[in-house]
Amino acid sequence: MQGKIFVPILLQNSKHFCQKIFTFLFVVNSTCINGQMEIHVLCNRKTLGYVSRKNFGDNMDITKCAALILAAGKGTRMHSMKPKVMQTILGTPMFSYVDLALQPVFDDKIFVVAGHGAENIARAFPDIKIVMQKEQLGTGHALLCAMPELYKYEYVLVVNGDAPLITNSVVTDFIDRADGCDVAFASIELDDAGSYGRVVRKNGLVTGIVEAKDLETNARENREVNAGIYFLRIKAIEELLPQLGNNNKSGEYYITDLVGLGVARGMDVRAIKCGKDENLLGVNSPAELCRIEEILRRRTVQKFLNAGVIMHAPDLVRISPLASIEAGAEICGPCEIYGHSEIKSGVFVGSNTVVISSKIFENAQIRAFSHLEEAIVCQNAQVGPYTRLRPQAVVGEDAHAGNFVELKKTTLGKGAKANHLTYLGDTEIGSNTNIGAGTITCNYDGKHKYKTKIGDSAFIGSNTSLVAPVNVGDNALIGAGSVITRNVPENELGIGRARQKNLPKKIQ
Ligand code: UD1
Ligand code: MG
Repeated sequence: MQGKIFVPILLQNSKHFCQKIFTFLFVVNSTCINGQMEIHVLCNRKTLGYVSRKNFGDNMDITKCAALILAAGKGTRMHSMKPKVMQTILGTPMFSYVDLALQPVFDDKIFVVAGHGAENIARAFPDIKIVMQKEQLGTGHALLCAMPELYKYEYVLVVNGDAPLITNSVVTDFIDRADGCDVAFASIELDDAGSYGRVVRKNGLVTGIVEAKDLETNARENREVNAGIYFLRIKAIEELLPQLGNNNKSGEYYITDLVGLGVARGMDVRAIKCGKDENLLGVNSPAELCRIEEILRRRTVQKFLNAGVIMHAPDLVRISPLASIEAGAEICGPCEIYGHSEIKSGVFVGSNTVVISSKIFENAQIRAFSHLEEAIVCQNAQVGPYTRLRPQAVVGEDAHAGNFVELKKTTLGKGAKANHLTYLGDTEIGSNTNIGAGTITCNYDGKHKYKTKIGDSAFIGSNTSLVAPVNVGDNALIGAGSVITRNVPENELGIGRARQKNLPKKIQ
């Protein structure tokens, strides 16, 4: 999933269609350069659109700090085969949000402890630095597994991978307040502390964290809990880690025991109080996933409403915080807009539409029940209702893709139309060409995929099968119901169907 996909854009009028295909020389608008456009897919790690860098105080040399994301756990309470951090929130794996919040501060000094489903995480995020925790013996053991990577740093910020609401500013504020300590962690106040570890204090001073499973019943009322984000001096934890035990109800090595051990050794141990900050909530169960997704959904919708995006039924609109939508776009709920999608001003997105990592340019109309994935829709184009645009589909300026039309790796040129019941795969279509209802490109012979090229101002009659590889020239005409297996030169009529016979009707 990681990376950029380059899509050829062939949208302008030209007689030399084939030349266009190979040279990609046309600049369609400011974001299409040399006819290529970047589509960032769901897991792209390097797009930091929604976070900003921050400078720390004089004492803090952030270059000496690394970050560690704990992501090896089984997530038993999710009852899913997927590693918990790969569960999606508004279409993007939870892990991504944590990673994005850390990147502006830590850049390439982020390590990830993975174990259960590590290959799944590595496949989705190939450029992360994974430290393996083969057996999941607890969060303290996860930290221990990462120590060979951490010795050269002064501090490590440890974050649970199941806290997807965390933001760059939460991270930087926490580090600012934790600066200079030996062991620090963020604490929050919850009305229902549930499965969170409780902060234990004596005369106001922190003495330890007790995990929910190990609590005495009377201590369950304690509402100050550990949020699962820690700032640790490496020298201090080198000293404390060998003392971690697993003599508790879970039989696990808890990172949280570093707090009590640090206090016992007279270290500078701090609980950084973060009030009721929702950004620090963790996800352990389907219900918590649902709650957190709803918080992020509402926030994101509100952000776009405030920025001037028109929305109908906003309670039913689900937009990824990674998406960008310009003021003056109009969105109808229910709909889903995920990944690094870009929607420009004047675009209309009808209800029941799904847009994933796609770009939709000015004044394009996406009518109801359409599904777009890694696709590009150019200015003033019309898509839908009921259109499916698969990866590398490009609907050119003023072009139409109508009901029950599927495009895959296909460019529909400027002003071209495929209005009904059509499959176009691995196809390049010139400007002002009309694709009749029921046209199919036969692009696959069971082993390989082949290309179809259709020039400008061609007319493909209804119910045509284009058996690829095949070229149809400019201004060519294809008779309805044809099976086209050979190239049709420009300005010629191609017809390939059984001749009709009319016979006397049998009289019974
Ligand atoms: C943890 C804290 C708890 C805190 C809560 C905040 C511990 C022991 N408890 O509990 O005090 O209130 O977070 O959300 O840390 N993981 C590993 N390896 C393991 C086990 C877990 O990498 O062997 C990872 C998980 O993938 C997860 C994170 O560590 O991302 C936290 O583990 P989880 O099981 O969710 O701990 P909580 O019960 O939430
Ligand atoms: Mg958790």
